[in-house]
Amino acid sequence: MSDESAQDDVQRVREASDIVRVVGEHIELKARGREYVGLCPFHDDTKPSMYVVPAKQMYHCFSCGAGGDIFTFVQDYHSMTFREALKYLAERAGISLQSRGRRRTASDSALSVSRSVLLEANEVAQKFYRSIYRHAEHGKAARELVEQRGISPEMVEAFGIGAAPQRWDGLVVFLSSKQRTLEPYLQAGLIKARDHSTEGGFFDALRHRLVFPIRDQIGRVIAFGGRRINDEDEPKYLNSPESPVFDKSATLFGLDLASRSIQREGVAIIAEGYTDVIACHQAGITNVVATLGTALTPKHATLLRRLCHTVVLLFDGDQAGQRAADRAAEVFLTLPIDAKIATLAGFTDAKDPDELLKRPGGSETLKSAIDGATELLEYRIARLRDRLASAGAAEMERALRDEFRTLGSLGLASADKIRWQFVIRRLSELSGLNAASIADLVREGAGRARFNPRADDQPRPKPADCPAGPAEVLGCLLAAPTLWLGLEDHQRAVLEQACTGSPLHPVFEAMHAAEQATGRTELQTVIDELRRRGSDHRLAVELERDITRRLGDDPEQIGPTLKQCLAELGRSVQTIESKPKASAAERIEQIRASKVSGGTNTRLYPRPPGVLKTDDESSV
Ligand code: CTP
Ligand code: MN
Repeated sequence: MSDESAQDDVQRVREASDIVRVVGEHIELKARGREYVGLCPFHDDTKPSMYVVPAKQMYHCFSCGAGGDIFTFVQDYHSMTFREALKYLAERAGISLQSRGRRRTASDSALSVSRSVLLEANEVAQKFYRSIYRHAEHGKAARELVEQRGISPEMVEAFGIGAAPQRWDGLVVFLSSKQRTLEPYLQAGLIKARDHSTEGGFFDALRHRLVFPIRDQIGRVIAFGGRRINDEDEPKYLNSPESPVFDKSATLFGLDLASRSIQREGVAIIAEGYTDVIACHQAGITNVVATLGTALTPKHATLLRRLCHTVVLLFDGDQAGQRAADRAAEVFLTLPIDAKIATLAGFTDAKDPDELLKRPGGSETLKSAIDGATELLEYRIARLRDRLASAGAAEMERALRDEFRTLGSLGLASADKIRWQFVIRRLSELSGLNAASIADLVREGAGRARFNPRADDQPRPKPADCPAGPAEVLGCLLAAPTLWLGLEDHQRAVLEQACTGSPLHPVFEAMHAAEQATGRTELQTVIDELRRRGSDHRLAVELERDITRRLGDDPEQIGPTLKQCLAELGRSVQTIESKPKASAAERIEQIRASKVSGGTNTRLYPRPPGVLKTDDESSV
C-alpha cells in the first residue's frame, strides 16, 4: 500500500524488463551502435526516428518528441494509465505486485477493482465457452457450423472460438459449481437476473451460439459476440453490453492478431463482420479488423493512427459504402491518417468478403477490390459528379460549395496546419477549383460547426520554450549524471534561479529531490521523480537527448561545456543582482519574486551569500 512498496514494484518491474525487448515487441528495431532505431509509432514516421537507448533504459523520437522510459512507452502505445502499464509489464515479466497502487479517489479505485475483476470474469467465461466447443455433445452443433462455414482449425484456435451450450443456465451452473460470485458476470453481461426485484435466479446471456471472444489490442478478452446456430433464433448476433473494460466505440475485432501486420504494411483494412475478419486472416490477409457492428469512431481512428498511415474501409455493398463515406469524413479529416473506401459490389456478386473468399480466385478478387480503394475525398467528389452527371455547371458548382462547407462543419477547419494544407490542395486537384476559395468555404462551414477539441494532443513544454542557458546545463547534467554531484552550492543556486519561472523548474526540482531521496540523478531516477509528482517527463528526456546527440554522454567531454554554461549563467544572475540603480521598491519586488518562485521549501539548498542576499529576506 505504501509509496515505498509502489516504488519497489516499479523498480522490480523495470529491472525485469529490458526496454529494447519491450519496444521491440511493438515496433521493429535495428541496432545502431549502442542504440537501436525504428519507425516511431507515435507519428507518421517514414525514416526511423525513434531511438532506444538500453544503457539509459529510455527511448526518444527526435522527430515528434515522444520519449520516456519503458512505462511511458507502454502507456502511450496502449493508451494505458501508469498503473495499467505497470501491471502489464509485471504480468509479462512474471512479477507479482506488492502495492495496490497509489492513493486514489473512491471512484478511481472502484473502477480499477472492477476492471480487473471483469477481465477475470471474461477470462473464466472464455475458458468455459472453449470447453463447451470441444465437448463431444454440447459443442457438436457449433463445430458443425464452423465446418460448414469453412473456418479452419487454425483460425478456431487463433480467434479462440467457443460455444455457448443449448440450455438456459450452462454458465450459471458452471460458475456456481466453482463457487464464484456472480456479480462480476452480471456486470460483464454474461449472465442475467431472471427477475430484477426478487431472487428469481440467473440465466445465461448467450445460449446455443457460436462464441467469438472480443479482445483488446493486447489480447485480453473484454467482451463476446455470439452468433446464432439456429437460423430461427434472433438476433443473428448478440454482443456483450459495454462495461468498464469494453468500450465498443474504441474496440476493433481482431486487432490483437492484426496489429503487427497492420504496422508492417502501414495499412489497416476494416471489414464489416467478424466472419469476414476470420476469413481474411485464413486467406493470409492478416491486416484486417472489424468494428463491432457500428460505424468507425474517432477513437478507432486514434487507435489505428499509431499503427498505420492508411485505413481501407471495406464494404459489402455500395449503399453501406456511401453511408460510411459520409461518416468517415468526420473521423478522418482532422487526423493525419488516410482513409480509403473499397466496395465489393463493383468486383463480385458475393455478398461479403467471407462469401467471396470461399470461391475459387476469391482472394485475388478481394485483393483487387482492396487495391482499387478510392481515397475518401476523391470518393466523395466522384459521388457528387455521378449524382450530378446530367446537371449543368452551375448546379455542380453549388454542390461543390456545399460539399466544402460540409467538410468544414465536419471539423476540417480544426485540422493542424499540415493536414489542412494537404487536404485543401487535394480538394483543389479533385474539383479543379482554386485552393484559396475552397479554404474560404471550408472556414465558412466551420463557423456552423461544433467545437471539436483534440484531447489527444495536449500541449507540453518543449526545449524550444525554455531559456537556452539553463536548458543546456540541465541537459548536460542529465546526460552525465555524475556531474551533478560535482556542482557547488552556489552553482546550484544560480541554476535554480535561472530555471525559475520556466518549464525547466520542475525538472530541476525533480533532480534535486531525486538526489535527496536516492543519492542519484540518472535520467531514470529523475523520470520516476517527475512521474511521482505528476509532472511531464518528456522535457527531461529531450534535454538529455539534445546534449547527448551533440556531445555524447561522457562526463569528460561534457564537463567543459557545463562549466562554461554555468559561468555564463552566473554572470547573468550577477548582473541582475548588482544592478546598481535598483530602487528599494525594485529590490523588494526582486526578493519577493524569488521567494514566490522558490516555493515554500526554504531548505531546497543552502542559499549562497552572493545571490539575492538572504539577510534581506527578513525585511520583506
Ligand atoms: N452485427 C451485430 N448484430 C446483428 C447483426 C450484425 O452486431 N444483429 C454485426 C456483427 O459484428 C456482424 C456484422 O455486424 O459481424 C456484420 O453483419 P452481417 O453482415 O449481418 O453478418 P455477417 O458477418 O455476414 O454474418 P454471417 O456471415 O455470420 O452471416
Ligand atoms: Mn457475412
